[in-house]
Amino acid sequence: MTGKPVKESQSEMTELVLPNDTNPLGALLGGRLMHMVDIAAALAGHRHSRSYLVTAAVDHLDFLHPARMGQFVVLKSSVNRVWNTSMEIGVKAFAEDILTGRRLHICSAYLTFVALDEQGNRRAIPPLIPESDDDKRRFDEAGERRKHRLELRKRA
Ligand SMILES: CC(C)(COP(=O)(O)OP(=O)(O)OC[C@H]1O[C@@H](n2cnc3c(N)ncnc32)[C@H](O)[C@@H]1OP(=O)(O)O)[C@@H](O)C(=O)NCCC(=O)NCCS
Repeated sequence: MTGKPVKESQSEMTELVLPNDTNPLGALLGGRLMHMVDIAAALAGHRHSRSYLVTAAVDHLDFLHPARMGQFVVLKSSVNRVWNTSMEIGVKAFAEDILTGRRLHICSAYLTFVALDEQGNRRAIPPLIPESDDDKRRFDEAGERRKHRLELRKRA
């Protein structure tokens, strides 16, 4: 299977925070942000694998700052590493003020997706080619996280 560079599937998604997405103080609901993170990760995952995907695990989800009603949420996603039928995708989310354009990093997460065929059987994912220094750093770090994740899975 031919490998694909990280940049080929890197994705960006933007959503406007509407009243229905917020708590009574006008801050974006955590669950709504988690949904956005899942979709943003899937964008990069589908583009890399060109297959159906299921979310196998979500880890390291930090909510650093709130996003407010009327702001944009910008989510950047990138495939960090591919194993056989699974891959890790990193998502970084920002709140963007629509008047000033100022962006604040609000959340980061790592998700593991498994690729499936039309019958729901697992299928191999094309290898990932890390090119930049950042790609290579994320690739190495993803290996460490996988060890920890599979260890936790054994204990579940
Ligand atoms: C995820 C799922 C397909 C794994 O199936 P399984 O029969 O346990 O398969 P395996 O143990 O052989 O794992 C398949 C791959 O997923 C990886 N994996 C499975 N669970 C994992 C976890 N919790 N964390 C990290 N990787 C995981 C395995 O390491 C393996 O990777 P590899 O092929 O790249 O080496 C299955 O558990 C499932 O369907 N879960 C429900 C998914 C779902 O409904 N998600 C929400 C809606 S999309």
